[in-house]
Amino acid sequence: MTSYSDLQQSLRSKPKTWLVTGVAGFIGSSLLKTLLELEQRVVGIDNFSTGHQSNLDDVQAESGKNWDRFTFYPYDVRNLNDCINACKDVDIVLHQAALGSVPRSIEDPITTNSSNIDGFLNMLVAARDTKVKRFVYAASSSTYGDHPGLPKVEDEIGRPLSPYAVTKYVNELYADVFARTYGMENIGLRYFNVFGPRQDPNGAYAAVIPKWFGQLLSGEDCFINGDGETSRDFCFIDNTVQANLLAATTENPTAINQIYNVACGDQTSLNELFYSIKMLLGSHYPNINSLTAKHRALRPGDVRHSRANIEKANSLLGYQPSHNVHQGLQATLDWFLKKTAD
Ligand SMILES: NC(=O)c1ccc[n+]([C@@H]2O[C@H](COP(=O)([O-])OP(=O)(O)OC[C@H]3O[C@@H](n4cnc5c(N)ncnc54)[C@H](O)[C@@H]3O)[C@@H](O)[C@H]2O)c1
Repeated sequence: MTSYSDLQQSLRSKPKTWLVTGVAGFIGSSLLKTLLELEQRVVGIDNFSTGHQSNLDDVQAESGKNWDRFTFYPYDVRNLNDCINACKDVDIVLHQAALGSVPRSIEDPITTNSSNIDGFLNMLVAARDTKVKRFVYAASSSTYGDHPGLPKVEDEIGRPLSPYAVTKYVNELYADVFARTYGMENIGLRYFNVFGPRQDPNGAYAAVIPKWFGQLLSGEDCFINGDGETSRDFCFIDNTVQANLLAATTENPTAINQIYNVACGDQTSLNELFYSIKMLLGSHYPNINSLTAKHRALRPGDVRHSRANIEKANSLLGYQPSHNVHQGLQATLDWFLKKTAD
């Protein structure tokens, strides 16, 4: 099995053409940044529904001359022609474009469905018809739904708890059927609460880590849903990028047309997370040390505990998280401090 560092070497010596959908989003822009560092050619598409030009500007500022290897189209995955145009001459698709957030999907299931299911199907058809070699897509831990087992193993899932979870499960079903019916090479990565630089701290549907960093820095109230003992397997973005690159390039036939958990295999409660973020920020801004979070009602559709078994990704793809949650929070802090200083 190729190690991640060997893989990075071999990509540099033999560049490929990648399509990253949702490239102006948090995970998409991080994939772009790494692919450009590895001197790959990248096509990116985004409709800016939740992504930002500032994420692309941020990557451009860090990419130097490699930025010339990037081509952007303001395409929408709900449009099949856009998807076909984007896939032309592409070797590998990393499909990230979707509307995230469980609460958003509960408030507006139709809009979530159209980007996450219609858009996904369009991308699969486009990748099939343009003969893309490998289609790697963002699946989600929400697919475990109400299954009580911990840690989560890939083939034991429950009933979905939200429209968002339905869309992500349907993606897996379509990817599997397209692999068996049309001979495609598809790999689904079930992300567990990814966090890191460029994740949006603003808006009603912001994820908890960037939201708390932003709120603590600006002195706003922070809220913990429920008693704070809800736990998640928070996963730093570099681990997620690593899993995408390994999935995109594996030559192991048993590793292809599979679903993988992408996480750290660890569990952190919201109370612990709030304390860690506060301590990290408090060492730079002592006034933050005295701030506390307010508790409020749990959100519908949220699961109580989540922790991944990452053995399958480790044994078939060679996935080894480079950052545990504390190392990831430290790297995220460094990014927020740099942003605040700019
Ligand atoms: N962040 C997480 O913790 C997490 C966990 C599980 C799964 N995921 C999945 O990972 C993927 C990326 O998530 P993210 O956290 O980077 O979110 P994000 O909102 O930052 O990025 C999603 C991007 O997709 C774009 N997009 C949405 N609908 C589109 C459409 N119809 N056409 C073109 N572009 C469109 C958005 O504008 C945005 O830039 C999503 O598929 C999400 O469901 C994320």
